[in-house]
Amino acid sequence: MDLFDRCSVLVFYTAAVFVLIHSCRGQSEVIGPLQPVVALIGDDIILPCNLDPVMNALDMAVEWARLDLNPRFVLVWRDGVELESKKHPSYTNRTSLFTDELKNGNISLKISKVKLSDEGTYKCFVPELKRQTTVKLVVGK
Ligand SMILES: *[C@@H]1O[C@H](CO)[C@@H](O)[C@H](O)[C@H]1NC(C)=O
Ligand SMILES: *[C@@H]1O[C@H](CO)[C@@H](O)[C@H](O)[C@H]1NC(C)=O
Repeated sequence: MDLFDRCSVLVFYTAAVFVLIHSCRGQSEVIGPLQPVVALIGDDIILPCNLDPVMNALDMAVEWARLDLNPRFVLVWRDGVELESKKHPSYTNRTSLFTDELKNGNISLKISKVKLSDEGTYKCFVPELKRQTTVKLVVGK
């Protein structure tokens, strides 16, 4: 076995152990869409985000944020309610979760009446799972 083979074997086993550890923790991943979401000004749209495998998210905290904003939160869900005071004023009354879907691990964000300034990269974060994904929104004129 030359050095390269030894390295690939090592990498393979490290990867296998990593996968094993993570699957044994029985935790879901936070999954978003592969493609950007495209919207037109005034549209009501959904930024998809799901727990996979499905886990009940009703009692979990969910944070939707844009790191380029201050305050950065677009929606904060905690203890079964939305914390409106945390959210960036430009999203007041315009963002929501599908509360009936949380039990199915569906933590997608609804944005109503899309504005040009909504364009950006959104982070969907579940603190309890320490998992997050990003969803890109492109707004056409
Ligand atoms: C948000 O909704 C509340 C209740 O319907 C209303 O009183 C308030 O004026 C709205 N705020 C904005 C910025 O639209
Ligand atoms: C999540 O809920 C929304 C709103 O009901 C729905 O459009 C979407 O398809 C759901 N996503 C999944 C993966 O079920």
